[in-house]
Amino acid sequence: MKPANDLFWGRCAVPAPDVSRALRRWLVCQGSVCQAAGGVEARLVWQRRARSANLGTVAMPTACLAMCRAAPVAVLYPDGAWFGRARARRVGLIWAAVESGTSRDAPGFLYRPPDPEAPDGG
Ligand code: FES
Repeated sequence: MKPANDLFWGRCAVPAPDVSRALRRWLVCQGSVCQAAGGVEARLVWQRRARSANLGTVAMPTACLAMCRAAPVAVLYPDGAWFGRARARRVGLIWAAVESGTSRDAPGFLYRPPDPEAPDGG
């Protein structure tokens, strides 16, 4: 019997990434509400970008993240940053903001836990 993760990836248009070596993981919601709001197209853009960046970053589909009112939703781990209305056309802006350390200024920013190491709490 195939593991559940393989079954889930079986519906995806791209091969499963090597998650074991990834330092950062974009979880892109593929629940029904997010799919209806453009989550599938967004996930494909996240995955293309992650593959081309090749910096230990992967983008993976995930089930409903219980933030359907902000669909489509993407979460970055281990940072814990959440983004709503993360449609395909916004992926580049969100990605750039995260890479420049200004994820709170990204379009659709929802939440990020405070950084206890930062002088201002992150
Ligand atoms: S379907 Fe995406 S957060 Fe619920």
